[in-house]
Amino acid sequence: MVDAALEKRQVKRAYALYSPIYDFIFDRIFHPGRVAALKALDIQPDDRILEVGIGTGLNLPLYPPRCRLTGIDLSDKMLEKAQEKIEELGLGNVTLKVMDASAMDFADNEFDQALATYVISAVPDPLGVLREMRRVVKPGGTIVILNHFRSQSRLVGTFEDLVSPLCTRLGWKSNLPMEPLLKDVGLAPELSMKVNLLNGWRLLRCVNRK
Ligand SMILES: C[S@@+](CC[C@H](N)C(=O)[O-])C[C@H]1O[C@@H](n2cnc3c(N)ncnc32)[C@H](O)[C@@H]1O
Repeated sequence: MVDAALEKRQVKRAYALYSPIYDFIFDRIFHPGRVAALKALDIQPDDRILEVGIGTGLNLPLYPPRCRLTGIDLSDKMLEKAQEKIEELGLGNVTLKVMDASAMDFADNEFDQALATYVISAVPDPLGVLREMRRVVKPGGTIVILNHFRSQSRLVGTFEDLVSPLCTRLGWKSNLPMEPLLKDVGLAPELSMKVNLLNGWRLLRCVNRK
């Protein structure tokens, strides 16, 4: 499952380049999915939330003020943008850390819930990241994933395979298959819905059964 073609240094380089323009390109078109993802989390007061690959922090305004949020990302440049938002919004409940989501520096069961939006196909080791999310979320906690996976339509899926080498160079995988990944990590979504433009992204909510 580790894709040798998408490496950590490639991801870091890509997102260092994207960081100044990321919000301009990805804010509006991905917003409906973000709203649905935060709703799927159903955060309770004082919940400890982990956001994996938080990027420039476009989800930050959507969190309720009384949760305790930790955001991690491989790219310090993306996190600098998230830090600017934290200051602009005056958020005192958010901690950011540069960290590889496939080798997290957290204890087992440290969080109540975890979220990853538009991340799983942008990491070198999707299975490793999901395993780590399962490890750091408490038993019975919630894991919400919002991602583009390989289409089940033969035509679209073939197109995604064809453009995959180009997309990998740009920093994400266009044809990551969803079912084998969820099976390998042992996650069975209790909610699975299509979101965003052309229903091209999948929102999954899973209970972390350990
Ligand atoms: C497409 S962006 C999504 C950012 C944000 N989640 C959003 O919703 O806009 C993917 C993010 O995943 C981060 N990323 C990629 N591989 C990672 C890893 N192994 N550990 C942590 N973050 C990673 C990238 O640096 C980038 O910020």
